[in-house]
Amino acid sequence: MDRIRITGGHPLSGEIPISGAKNAALKLMAASLLTAEPLVLTNVPRLADVRAMAELLKSFGVGVQITLGDGLGEGDGYRFHAATIASSFASYDMVRKMRASFQVLAPLLARHGEAKVSLPGGCAIGARPVDLHLKALEAMGASVVLEDGYVIASAKGGLKGARIDFPFVSVGATETAMMAATLAKGETVIGNAAREPEIEDLGKCLIAMGAKISGLGSSTIKVEGVAKLNGAEYAVMADRIEAGTYAIAVAIAGGDVELIGARRDDIAPLLNLLQQAGTDIRETKRGIALHRNGGRPAAVDITTAPFPGFPTDLQAQFMALMTVAEGTSVIRETIFENRFMHVPELGRLGADIKVTGDIAAVRGVARLRGAPVMATDLRASVSLVLAGLVAEGETIVNRVYHLDRGFDRLEEKLRAVGAQIVRERE
Ligand code: UD1
Repeated sequence: MDRIRITGGHPLSGEIPISGAKNAALKLMAASLLTAEPLVLTNVPRLADVRAMAELLKSFGVGVQITLGDGLGEGDGYRFHAATIASSFASYDMVRKMRASFQVLAPLLARHGEAKVSLPGGCAIGARPVDLHLKALEAMGASVVLEDGYVIASAKGGLKGARIDFPFVSVGATETAMMAATLAKGETVIGNAAREPEIEDLGKCLIAMGAKISGLGSSTIKVEGVAKLNGAEYAVMADRIEAGTYAIAVAIAGGDVELIGARRDDIAPLLNLLQQAGTDIRETKRGIALHRNGGRPAAVDITTAPFPGFPTDLQAQFMALMTVAEGTSVIRETIFENRFMHVPELGRLGADIKVTGDIAAVRGVARLRGAPVMATDLRASVSLVLAGLVAEGETIVNRVYHLDRGFDRLEEKLRAVGAQIVRERE
């Protein structure tokens, strides 16, 4: 298994291009199932999860072609053509690797009238049920049965528009409801919808495909079903979690870096906190520029929340920054249980963190020291890389396949701005 070796203590300087958003790209790919015409996506990130989703789509009979590629099976542009749906079965083996693959359920059901999709696996961050997805589909007239770890859904006469009020905000369930509603008969109103920018991105792509959707970015989304959708060409939005991660990298390692393609509005709560902690930030024509000159960051508190709150997907990275802060930071995780798996690993580097329930108290230390650590999930792994940038000596991050699921060419991007980071293949 590959590992990453980092020698800490080198400030960063230069530019980092931000790739397309994983959490948008995967759903846009699933949306290709909604139409018999080709969907062309550009700005697709080069990630293991994207390759896994492409394989899953192929298993349904979708034609997948790289349109902008390096000739070695990697690309930034793809054409997905679901002329007919040959199979609507997503096996446990396919879905367990990545929770987002569950998002094929709604488009398969909406277009094909039936689907059998394994219950998901994905990151080991606590129980992650799919009850809200299933209730939304049932409200639209689908019959849903759970059997041997599979969801078997059917809607022979087609889905019907419905009023769906989610009891709490779920990104995935909002996307399921929105995709299903595009081809349902009549109007669907989704109440307490998630407002994450990736949902807006999916909505805009669906609109480009002929869907009738209003209220994107608000907590009430309305969809007027249409008989069929058409093909489109769409550029995936920039990855706000990747942008936020590199913003934190500058805050922790110091230096001067411009994040090309990053959008301030997508990560405003993070940028405000980084400013409070002592990083200079300004918007540029091409993205966001960050500057930080030595010294320890100030401790600030965070509580994760649905958008526009502080994203749970940046909690581990922000905690890495707080391990070297001046003072104590209180970090509260409200979205997922068991999302503090990075805590013991950061502890191996000398961090002082105490967890009580959903709260971590991080008492900043003057310095971290490099050590071997183990990546446990996607965002946790990158927090260890960030800590390695500031730790004295060498940090070795093992099990980096988690990183490859969600960070496009991470070592390459960090090395280009002066980090001492190498991948060792085994
Ligand atoms: C998506 C993101 C993930 C991010 C999360 C929250 C993708 C591929 N993943 O995950 O990176 O951390 O949003 O911003 O886009 N829940 C239920 N029942 C359901 C659905 C969700 O109880 O049917 C719970 C979850 O366990 C969790 C909370 O709702 O506690 C929020 O989850 P949700 O917003 O659905 O996250 P995902 O879409 O899985």
